Amino acid sequence: MVDVHAKISLTGGSDFWHTPAVAAADLPELMWTDGPHGVRKQSGSSDHVGINASEPATCFPPAVGLASSWDPELVEQVGVALGEECRALGVGVLLGPGMNIKRSPLCGRNFEYFAEDPLVAGELAAALVSGVQSQGIGTSVKHFAANNQETDRMRRDSQVDERTLREIYLRGFGKVVRKAKPWTVMCSYNKVNGTYASENHWLLTEVLRDEWGFDGVVVSDWGAVWNRVRALRAGLDLEMPANAGHEREVREALDAGEIDAGTIDQAYGRVEAVVRRAQASLADAPEDFDVDGHHALARRMAERCVVLLSNDGVLPLARETRVAVVGEFARTPRYQGAGSSRVNPTRLDNALDAITALVGHEVPFAPGFATAAGQQLADDAHEQAVAVARDADVVLAFLGLGENHESEGYDRDNADLPAEQLALLEDILAVNPNVVVVLSNGASVLLPFADRVRAIVEGWLLGQAGGAVLADVVYGVVNPSGKITETIPRRLADVPSSLHFPGDVSGVRYGEGLFVGYRGYDASGIYPAFPFGHGLSYTTFGYSDLALAATDAGVTVSLTVTNTGGRAGREVVQVYVSVPGSTVVRVPRELKGFASVALEPGASARVEIAISSDDLAYWSARDQAWVVEAGEYAVGVGASSRDLRLSGTVAVAGNEPVRPLALDSTVAEAMQVPAFAEIITGLAGAVFGEDPDLIRMMESIPLAALAGFGGQSLDEVQTMLDQVNATRS
Ligand code: BGC
Repeated sequence: MVDVHAKISLTGGSDFWHTPAVAAADLPELMWTDGPHGVRKQSGSSDHVGINASEPATCFPPAVGLASSWDPELVEQVGVALGEECRALGVGVLLGPGMNIKRSPLCGRNFEYFAEDPLVAGELAAALVSGVQSQGIGTSVKHFAANNQETDRMRRDSQVDERTLREIYLRGFGKVVRKAKPWTVMCSYNKVNGTYASENHWLLTEVLRDEWGFDGVVVSDWGAVWNRVRALRAGLDLEMPANAGHEREVREALDAGEIDAGTIDQAYGRVEAVVRRAQASLADAPEDFDVDGHHALARRMAERCVVLLSNDGVLPLARETRVAVVGEFARTPRYQGAGSSRVNPTRLDNALDAITALVGHEVPFAPGFATAAGQQLADDAHEQAVAVARDADVVLAFLGLGENHESEGYDRDNADLPAEQLALLEDILAVNPNVVVVLSNGASVLLPFADRVRAIVEGWLLGQAGGAVLADVVYGVVNPSGKITETIPRRLADVPSSLHFPGDVSGVRYGEGLFVGYRGYDASGIYPAFPFGHGLSYTTFGYSDLALAATDAGVTVSLTVTNTGGRAGREVVQVYVSVPGSTVVRVPRELKGFASVALEPGASARVEIAISSDDLAYWSARDQAWVVEAGEYAVGVGASSRDLRLSGTVAVAGNEPVRPLALDSTVAEAMQVPAFAEIITGLAGAVFGEDPDLIRMMESIPLAALAGFGGQSLDEVQTMLDQVNATRS
């Protein structure tokens, strides 16, 4: 028999990383730790921002890299490997994946998030969760919700209208909960529409549990609970890390009758269930994991993440090309982000060694600039780099952001590459125009030189094997197939959220509404530097024979993709949907499906992509429901959001609710109801005559007002409405 005080103890941590043992229930303590792209197990001093060392584990590509693969199958395999490492290291719950929407490229933590779009973020996060949990290890999908910046992250109020919140910021979480059943969800630090996420009943109970059917544990972000009593009542189950004061408050509240024992029972039961599941998997866990096998998987994964942004044909390089390598990142890779997700890698590949191995001899190299605060460089480092570049056939310039430029805990204040790197690039271009830029960065940077360099390889952050992969891409050992999941802007001011980021002490208003990322660029007709979904290959692909079919479950899209170039390659096919005659605000097009296909030169394959009705639905605030509008939907299929190769339309039956007519319904709404159209025509004709312009003007008049103009009483109109409504329900 577990008494209520022991139960209360399991609603909080026992230290930084553990839930306590409960002797009476024979329940062991359990380790919960970061996450997400590797296991950060601290066995010495603990901290939640990645300062102290952790045990070696494979550093897979962080989410920014994973996302560019658009490859749920491979991401799931990474999840399996992460689960294996958790088991070997005795970790029961891995704190990830992070899946907040990239609302602004300035968010310091974008490297830990997947996309500016909830569909691709949701699918990939679900894959990672499934992989980890297949090993009997829990995940913690984070940070729930509307945690889209680091500035003032522990208290800022994210003010988002309900439709935007549901369609953009919650949709991906809902997909993961339904599809992959994460054992835990981590609530974020910030407030959501005025209430801390940790105390937000609407978020943690009504949406997460009642609507989505989540039956796992809601754990707090580290330090996100202000009051454990209020949090438990709102639907939180576990406060991390340990907080003795908060635990005492729960006991006092119980004695004072301010929280009922049932609420504590429920939280205890949920945490207990997670601990037991993990315990079962850890009980017979091996003591080590396949270090080499996982490094190889990290490399295979990274191969799918690299994005070739531009290429005038200079890439891939022949081995005999005389290259010069410039930039410290070639020698000292930037491969993951700073903060709580920082993994201590088992190995670390760098591009310079890999290039040397590929070409069979050393190549001229100059670091050019420092990548970390305090790094010592020769006084003439800049000049040395220009000198090295001068005589080469091709200069490989490894540029990017250092760890101090982007991090958990703060946002960037601009999207530029460091000034010294830009200056070096200009000086190199002045002596040698044949420059290929290879980027390492956790979020988009502005690329003002894009038209003046011969190719840009976006390496994002690729994990511990990424350095070798960059060399493979440059030399064509790997044919790149990644595509960006965040728009790369030309100017920061073009970013749709730019006027509303990061807000101030009174909150951050998500004023751009639904028009986040490509949705906003498309609506305002701004052409970014590189659009959402873009990425090149060393081969080319043709698209043909689009077929669209409406089914009971949604819409099925099929098409043929042909490799029309000379190399084997993989194409990520994207499906965008618009609803032309929609009666509600719509963005020009939204990603609704994707698939990838690997093809030998000349080969074709039929690709089928199913779009579910859930994904077609919009959130109708007036109905307080997800609604699929009836009508002709326009479908565009292509290689990016701005490179649609095939298009067609499909009639969708929809599931719009019957909305009873009321006195505040407009004439136009009433006219859509056949039984009422006749009455209303008579009523309106008597008032406005037959003039088409007048008829148009009157469409927006509420029936109550029309009745007044026509001399009818509201009671008379209401009686008519009741009769018509009765025939429709
Ligand atoms: C981060 C979480 C992380 C936790 C534990 C927090 O600061 O926001 O993502 O899981 O620390 O390290």
